[in-house]
Amino acid sequence: MSRRVVLGVCGGIAAYKAVEVCRLLVESGMHVAPVLTEGATHFVGPLTFSALASEPARTTLLGAPEPVPHTTLGQSADLVIVAPATAKLLGKYAAGISDDLLTATLLATRAPVLLAPAMHTEMWEHPAVRANVETLLARGVHLVGPDAGPLAGGDVGVGRLADPARIVDAALGLVGGGSGPLTGRRVLVTSGGTREAIDPVRYIGNRSSGKMGDAVAAAAARRGAEVVLVTTTSRPTREGIEVVRVESAQEMADVVLDRFDRSDAVVMAAAVADFRPKTAAPTKIKKGGGVPEILLEPTPDILAMLGERKAAGQMLVGFAAETGNLRANAAAKLTAKRLDLIVANDVTEPGSGFEVDTNRATLLDSAGGVDELPLMSKAALAEVVVDRIEGGLAARDGGGAGP
Ligand code: CTP
Repeated sequence: MSRRVVLGVCGGIAAYKAVEVCRLLVESGMHVAPVLTEGATHFVGPLTFSALASEPARTTLLGAPEPVPHTTLGQSADLVIVAPATAKLLGKYAAGISDDLLTATLLATRAPVLLAPAMHTEMWEHPAVRANVETLLARGVHLVGPDAGPLAGGDVGVGRLADPARIVDAALGLVGGGSGPLTGRRVLVTSGGTREAIDPVRYIGNRSSGKMGDAVAAAAARRGAEVVLVTTTSRPTREGIEVVRVESAQEMADVVLDRFDRSDAVVMAAAVADFRPKTAAPTKIKKGGGVPEILLEPTPDILAMLGERKAAGQMLVGFAAETGNLRANAAAKLTAKRLDLIVANDVTEPGSGFEVDTNRATLLDSAGGVDELPLMSKAALAEVVVDRIEGGLAARDGGGAGP
């Protein structure tokens, strides 16, 4: 049975991001009942939430479909989330004031509560707000964020609403994971750039941050998949994802090939080195010895090996980082490596490629489909990629072959 979540939304500029929180919660298999404060309705319409959520948005204590909505909602909830939680909400909740449906629900529930505060830095750091947060934490309330970054009005500082995906990850952590459309599927994702040793100190590396692969892993896990992330990075990942850390292309190949037969889909988002030093010096190469000549040899092409072994029910997704001739190069890789889908991007374009949080990608699939996506966050692109995996695996189950 799906978990029941009350999603409270307060009046703040970040209220528009609660729409994405709502969508991701529903996508994770949650039953979502939105509750908007009066203030929230000035920033975002209840209709938007009603359209996305599992039941119509409620905005008032009186006039809701049921006679005592605060107890009905509070008692039946498995989790109450407030995103964004304003300074006013924190104050009222800490003081036990219930003058609207959201604060009444917070007092009427025994379910875990997750608050995602968002406000200006000065407000977040005010002693009154700090004291309210301390009080709420001491009572067992959970907090996600706020993050540091740009705020409304051009300010920069701590107070930004946590990323919607992170809020949903925290929510899933509290209700014991979600079931979703990918429940029962095993998805293996690689991320980061490999490091090929020159000596014990130096390596040949690349500029991949691992953000794209991490986002794909999190998106698949949110939809209920059993996810293994084979990564060269040490960035924190959401709970429930099995992380295998590797360094070189060879190590990545060993882990991925070992686990391939048990995977329904593999997403190779890692930037795997194509060449490595033929031999790694056992001790540090000293400057005094002159300029060294480093002889390179090819690394195993992991994706091509997977393409050769691929069974009918399995999906293979590759990435193509290009600096020109995007479509032609990506199409060639799609065919050569027997992929179902390739996510191609021009790393020389602004906002695309390494280290940034955004990407502009073109998707090419084995059925000849081409989808030129607009510039979007890596988290949003990850959702699109996982949509395609979900569709592709479902088509295979149904006897179809669509990617
Ligand atoms: N890849 C891989 N093993 C390698 C090199 C690449 O599995 N040794 C995977 C990457 O993870 C990516 C895809 O292959 O999903 C394409 O990688 P890319 O470096 O763009 O392509 P290459 O095949 O290396 O071709 P080229 O260097 O000519 O662009």
